[in-house]
Amino acid sequence: MSDNKVLIFDTTLRDGEQSPGATMTHDEKLEIAGMLDDMGVDIIEAGFPIASEGDFAAVSEIAKNSVNSRICGLARANFADIDRCWEAVKHAKQNRIHTFIGTSPLHRAIPNLTQDEMADKIHQTVTHARNLCDNVQWSPMDATRTEWDYLCRVIEIAIKAGATTINIPDTVGYTAPAESADLIKRLIETVPGADEVIFATHCHNDLGMATANSLAAVAGGARQIECTINGLGERAGNTALEEVVMALKTRHDIMPWTTGIDTTKIMAISRRVSTVSGFLVQPNKAIVGKNAFAHESGIHQDGMLKNRENFEIMRPEDVGLSGTSLPLGKHSGRAALRDKLEQLGFEVGDNQLKDIFVRFKELADRKKEVFDDDVVALVRADSGEDEDDRLQLVSMKVVCGTGGPAESTIEMEVDGKDVSATSEGDGPVDATFKAIRQIHPNTARLQLYQVSAVTEGTDAQATVSVRLEEDGVIATGQSANTDTVVASAKAYIHALNRLLVRRDKVGEGADAKEVSYKDLA
Ligand code: KIV
Ligand code: ZN
Repeated sequence: MSDNKVLIFDTTLRDGEQSPGATMTHDEKLEIAGMLDDMGVDIIEAGFPIASEGDFAAVSEIAKNSVNSRICGLARANFADIDRCWEAVKHAKQNRIHTFIGTSPLHRAIPNLTQDEMADKIHQTVTHARNLCDNVQWSPMDATRTEWDYLCRVIEIAIKAGATTINIPDTVGYTAPAESADLIKRLIETVPGADEVIFATHCHNDLGMATANSLAAVAGGARQIECTINGLGERAGNTALEEVVMALKTRHDIMPWTTGIDTTKIMAISRRVSTVSGFLVQPNKAIVGKNAFAHESGIHQDGMLKNRENFEIMRPEDVGLSGTSLPLGKHSGRAALRDKLEQLGFEVGDNQLKDIFVRFKELADRKKEVFDDDVVALVRADSGEDEDDRLQLVSMKVVCGTGGPAESTIEMEVDGKDVSATSEGDGPVDATFKAIRQIHPNTARLQLYQVSAVTEGTDAQATVSVRLEEDGVIATGQSANTDTVVASAKAYIHALNRLLVRRDKVGEGADAKEVSYKDLA
């Protein structure tokens, strides 16, 4: 590997998927892994194989289907975890076992181990992993709050036991850029054998410094960045892949490191991860936010027309945006729609195109111009509804009152049978959700209800995201419509359908999370 190459280790499917509510289905994980592989991600952390039968099946399948990426699985510091991880990743052409243990005083107290006992455990588990796999990553969790001497000692043990990558996690997002660079630099200078392994950086964004800390770590000598698409991850998330990759590309003059990422694939995967995880991307999010390349004010628009470099440091095309945004209208045909979808980074089969085209025509009848974001919302809505779903919305009628409650009448098909119900509520959405609950009684708790306008104007489509939780099982649903209440009903029903599928799987033991990576006892 050349000295200025930085490996990109994506953990969307492990650290990202672990964030509450971001659970993905087996097929969704496979699809995202395929996209990561295709865009040039060096290492994909595909999951935590011992966590559940579902995780194991997903990691094994991703390993079997991998093309260029190395497939990695996570394992705690015990033989059972490591064996299970190997069983899953061994199918890949290139594989990796990633094993970790919390080394800071706070984290050592969880399994109640002394420094010596933990050092011994690290020696045994890394040796065991290395006997199975010739590519082993070891992480001292909460490294940035671990005593310096102890951190050096355990890293040396891991290297001697055969670790090939040493990852330095800032588990709680505590460090700052200067400290991050300094820590990696001093570790490489101090720990015997450090020059024979790759140092990695794994940052969380609790103080909004994950990207800066990761880039600083590279300046300090790290040659692997751990990150997720859209910065998905627990609490404030992980380092965002798109941010570090575009920062290295755009400011190559002061950060002379390269990655193997095809940046034109960024927007497509960002949209897909947002859809399947149910986590909408904030409009002003760097690189992938809806406004990241929008120029609203007159002065900016004027400056852009004179020379785009006045206000643009990256070209939209470089991240996979079409650059032009010519709206479609009701006279646009199927070929124009397919063309637009391709420009937006979506590859759709003929059947899917047929479905999307029907929705597109319906939308174009209601809306004068159909913008790029409308088209994206159509694709998302299409992937959110399935004819096999047990619950289907047939029709709805809502009456809003100024002085009194709203009333919603819902007609649905439940397992093929027509059922209807009317309910009052505190506003049209509340009345609608209550009517749906009358038709399909459930105890699911609404964890998130989010509405965002896709484009401008009173005829704009609204995208609605709903996240439900029932007995520890979480499911998200999304829908888009020019009518916010219809989009809300569809998103709610979509989430209920996914909950039904997940509950069935948990019943079969397929998706239940048996252990958590924090469950260190
Ligand atoms: O944040 C963290 O410490 C982790 C480890 C498992 C590497 O995700
Ligand atoms: Zn993490």
